[in-house]
Amino acid sequence: MSVIFVTRPIEESGLKLLKGKGHRVIVRKTESAPTKDELVAALREHRPDALLCLLTDKIDGEVMDAGKPNLKVIANYAVGYDNIDAAAAKTRGIRTTFTPGASTDAVAEFTVTVVLALAHKIIAGDAFMRAGKYTTWDPFLCLGFEAKRKTIGIIGLGRIGFGIAERCVKGLGLRVVYNDVQPNANFEQQYGQSFRAIEDLLRESDFVSLNVPLLPSTRHLMNEERLMLMKPTAYLINTARGPIVDERALIRALEEHWIAGAALDVHECEPALTCDPKDRARLLALPNVILTPHIASATIEARQTMSLCAAENILAALEGHEPPNPIP
Ligand code: DGY
Repeated sequence: MSVIFVTRPIEESGLKLLKGKGHRVIVRKTESAPTKDELVAALREHRPDALLCLLTDKIDGEVMDAGKPNLKVIANYAVGYDNIDAAAAKTRGIRTTFTPGASTDAVAEFTVTVVLALAHKIIAGDAFMRAGKYTTWDPFLCLGFEAKRKTIGIIGLGRIGFGIAERCVKGLGLRVVYNDVQPNANFEQQYGQSFRAIEDLLRESDFVSLNVPLLPSTRHLMNEERLMLMKPTAYLINTARGPIVDERALIRALEEHWIAGAALDVHECEPALTCDPKDRARLLALPNVILTPHIASATIEARQTMSLCAAENILAALEGHEPPNPIP
């Protein structure tokens, strides 16, 4: 029997799978993210063989050392893994895993929803109603545009980017251009050649969707210079990780109408809305931005698949096999 420590309550399917195999699963009861000290203390106390953690848990070498000598695998309950120091784990002989594919449909559907909500001014209309401003039908009220035949630029054509592209082309009649580390032959075969350098993609797109992982090379990928390349009528959508966008530059871009608007599901300094509290009021005052609390993957289906995926990764590692989804 192995001990598995879970940093917060998660969807049960994976935990049942682990328990069914005879393992002892200890779930930290509180629903807030543990501090580093709490994590270290919990690892020292429980000496788990596996740690199942969330994207809000920063797992560095010090935390890993607290799990010595038993800790064999760290399984992230997320597709993003920027919270884990994978290199530090490797030097300690600890395997690290993530949940690729588990949230593809959820995030792709969310992104399409946001594209339509932006185009049709749905959030603005809702705010207008709630403010009691609706007095008569007006031909110019909340005048949007049709997404059909517009261009979406997808930066990062991984599973999620691909899922967004498919839905946009097949479901909405959008044109897709994309950027990735290299052209995707499979995509181009199905949808024609549409690889672009980031700068060209930004100049051409009516919507720009960010779908890259957070890496040193993607931090502030959308900086002032790149935001300035976007059309004044274009919208930026971020469902990936907050720090991919230089938030202060984006606030300026929105205030000064370099771009038409944005939809931000992730934020530079989560859970705070902004890194500098002074910027918060500026961001909240902007009518041309949709703000959501990192919920693009929040579907029952995705959470269940994430749970099973994390559990399967743990089981493989505990049995001494290469887990199905190692962090590269
Ligand atoms: C992920 O999986 O990385 C999402 O951001 C949260 O589910």
